[in-house]
Amino acid sequence: MSKRSVEKSWELHERAIKVVPMATQTHSKAPRQALREVEPCFLVRGDGCRVWDVDGNEYIDFRNGLGPVSLGYAYPSVNEAVARQLQDGVVFSYSHPLEVEIAERLVDIIPCAERVRFLKTGGEAMAATHRLARGFTGRDHILTCGYHGWVNSMGKGVPTPTKSTYTALPWGNIDAFQTAIDAQGADNIAAISVACDYAGVEQGHQFLPALRTMCDRIGAVLIFDEIVMGFRLRRAGAQEYFGVTPDLAVFAKGISNGVPLSTYLGRADIMDAVEKVVISSTFGGDTLGLAAAGAVLDIYEQEDVIGELWARGEQLHTGFAALAESQGVEANFAGLPPVGMLQLPDGVDRLQFEGACLNRGVITFSVYYPSYSHSEADIDEALGAMGAALQQIMSDPA
Ligand SMILES: Cc1ncc(COP(=O)(O)O)c(C=O)c1O
Repeated sequence: MSKRSVEKSWELHERAIKVVPMATQTHSKAPRQALREVEPCFLVRGDGCRVWDVDGNEYIDFRNGLGPVSLGYAYPSVNEAVARQLQDGVVFSYSHPLEVEIAERLVDIIPCAERVRFLKTGGEAMAATHRLARGFTGRDHILTCGYHGWVNSMGKGVPTPTKSTYTALPWGNIDAFQTAIDAQGADNIAAISVACDYAGVEQGHQFLPALRTMCDRIGAVLIFDEIVMGFRLRRAGAQEYFGVTPDLAVFAKGISNGVPLSTYLGRADIMDAVEKVVISSTFGGDTLGLAAAGAVLDIYEQEDVIGELWARGEQLHTGFAALAESQGVEANFAGLPPVGMLQLPDGVDRLQFEGACLNRGVITFSVYYPSYSHSEADIDEALGAMGAALQQIMSDPA
């Protein structure tokens, strides 16, 4: 088949690497040399479930901005709410009524939320919960599970004393948590901070209640990172789906359909410690993110967004499994329909599959996020491309 041209993308990439380290602000958006012929490094427009790159190519997108675009790109009522608010101003010298209104609405729908505060990114809001848990308990050590963003925990440059106050542990393995508690001493554990695994998410039925019991026993704060699961698995994320209420939680991606906003929320006594812990940001109460969140909350209230995310995810998962089976290939999706992970046979390069999909107009990654704008026809169209991509890479492995 004829290849699409992504020439302009890579020309821009050449310019970018001279002034922007890694040519991106987000590590997982960094273009991959192995996909030089097909990867669009720069996207310029989105509408519904589709995006367009600088070369003018159109794609059905399952990355959705790395997850936050849960309703779809340029979703009309969200855009209108942001545009309306923009006329009146973005940030002010005092708080804005939207901070109260959105906080009240989140208290109504999120089980753990008694108090609510806002920031801009998921990682800083997670760091805020860690500070709060430490300030509240007077303890330092935090057991973590999953990715919580770059602050304090990732990569080089984190001071050794800071690093030593975190222990990263595997999803689903409650014994590993008990061993870490024994090693650190129960009285030193400020919090257990957990983001759900994608492929093994269903273990949460046993694992999350066990973490709840563990935290209650040792007097530690239970924190759920709902950044991906919120407004996707359920409106109130894992805590609603699994029926386990944490002490604190963070929602970020789906809450405002891609307009930057994060919220840390939870038990009143812990959240009220914020005054002494000091978590403060000029842009915390930015009204554009809050206006977007208001429109998103309206849509989730009025329409069955969650049901659609599950239905379209299910269509994608079962459709792909059937295609793979018809080709005699052992490939399928693990995890739940709104957040699935593609599993290819051992030895098959996921990058090659992604390249073959890109060349057929579908953006994929390890995690697939259906949005409310993916119609049944869009999923069928994407499946056609993914089936052909699978056939190509199986008959012509790299
Ligand atoms: C589970 C989880 N937690 C935290 C983060 C960090 O959020 P942000 O990139 O907005 O700082 C991410 C981002 O992908 C995430 O997936």
